[in-house]
Amino acid sequence: MATAAKPEAPVETVVTDVSENAHPWDVSVAAIYVEDRWQPIFKEMREKAPINKVVGSAYGDYWNVTTYKEIQHIEALPDLYSSAKGITIVTDPEELPEDLNIQLPMFIAMDRPEHTEQRRVIAPAFTPSEMERMTEEVRQRTAELLDTLPVGERFDWVDTVSIELTTQMLAILFDFPWEDRRKLTEWSDWMGDIENSLTEESRREQLEHIFEAGAYFQRLWDERLEKGEAPDLISRMINSDMRNMDQFTYMGNLMLLIVGGNDTTRNSMSAYAYGMEQFPEEREKLEQNPELIPAAVQEIVRWQTPLAHMRRTATEDHEMFGHKVKEGDAIILWYLSGNRDENFFDRPNDIWLERPKPGRHLSFGYGIHRCVGARLAELQLRLLLEEMAKRRLRVNVIGEPKRVPACFVHGYTKMEVELSTY
Ligand code: HEM
Repeated sequence: MATAAKPEAPVETVVTDVSENAHPWDVSVAAIYVEDRWQPIFKEMREKAPINKVVGSAYGDYWNVTTYKEIQHIEALPDLYSSAKGITIVTDPEELPEDLNIQLPMFIAMDRPEHTEQRRVIAPAFTPSEMERMTEEVRQRTAELLDTLPVGERFDWVDTVSIELTTQMLAILFDFPWEDRRKLTEWSDWMGDIENSLTEESRREQLEHIFEAGAYFQRLWDERLEKGEAPDLISRMINSDMRNMDQFTYMGNLMLLIVGGNDTTRNSMSAYAYGMEQFPEEREKLEQNPELIPAAVQEIVRWQTPLAHMRRTATEDHEMFGHKVKEGDAIILWYLSGNRDENFFDRPNDIWLERPKPGRHLSFGYGIHRCVGARLAELQLRLLLEEMAKRRLRVNVIGEPKRVPACFVHGYTKMEVELSTY
């Protein structure tokens, strides 16, 4: 029987009362993210019981894992902690009617060896030399957008900047018809919203959007078959071992790239605006020292943690840091909390541009599933910050932003801002 190492800190298992369904450590509840009050809840867990079990949540029973080293440890054992039963807190929707219980196969939700084979096809699109190749186009698009923004007038940063730039990026990556690019945003939002799994009606609506995306991408696939080798991701798949994959696998992997690259980078761009507003001294430091931009990118991604969690499923009965875990148990790795772990980070709640070793965060995960698009996300953010600095533009956030109501995508739906120059 496999055994995960025991941590030094004492841990206890908390089993909640199912009838109440309102346990203070049930951090699957969307309200705590909309109202931005998750911080003290996770802090309490890290102090009192870094690993604990919640029973009877809207998503069923699950284990919370809240500390940095324990999350890393679990991610380093992919045979014991599988991704194949899903990567969010949503468990197999067995109660849904059969026509609604459709799972697209995606390599993020696969184990070895299938995961390795499929990741290998995609990974060459994200090498440092590919990033070089794309830099000028992304920089130019970013510059063009910034040049259209009004200074001294209110507008929504999320829609005008974060969504537009990330959607443009995906359109470049897929060589997707430019005028239809907002469809990518729409499909991604439907796919990434795990709350849709909670009712039959919303699940049905979600599937309609997935099928619409499926038909659209099938058309693109047929067109690209004629085109021969090209660097866009669809052509890459066609000209690889994935050529003979079934339509579901093709769709699943495309959807993975759309969802993976969309909400996450979008919310990092919004976090740049909001985070700098929260730490005005750091903002000034950044404005005076543009060489801090690469560190700022890392800090913003850590501080925001655009995906609050990933889930693993135990493949056998074993002891996990002293807790008896059963085969099939859902284990939720809360990156959001690991990135604020005071035993790993000094001043974890601050954006601190001179933080020693700024890239050591969990936002991109760890181990064999570590985000394949991390370099691209960092590139987009770096170029945004560089082009803002060139124009000496500052984003001033007005009031509180509106936040995504979910425990998976951690971000903003609306953020009123006004630009000024410095
Ligand atoms: C700041 C932006 C981003 C964040 C925070 C982020 C976060 C993550 C996380 C947490 C994982 C799972 C890691 C794990 O299970 O250990 C992941 C995997 C993945 N991400 Fe990202 N991501 C970002 C941007 C992107 C972009 C731009 C793309 C592509 C366009 C992308 C595509 C993927 C893919 C394909 C996977 C699956 C990798 C695998 O299973 O091997 N991501 N990402």
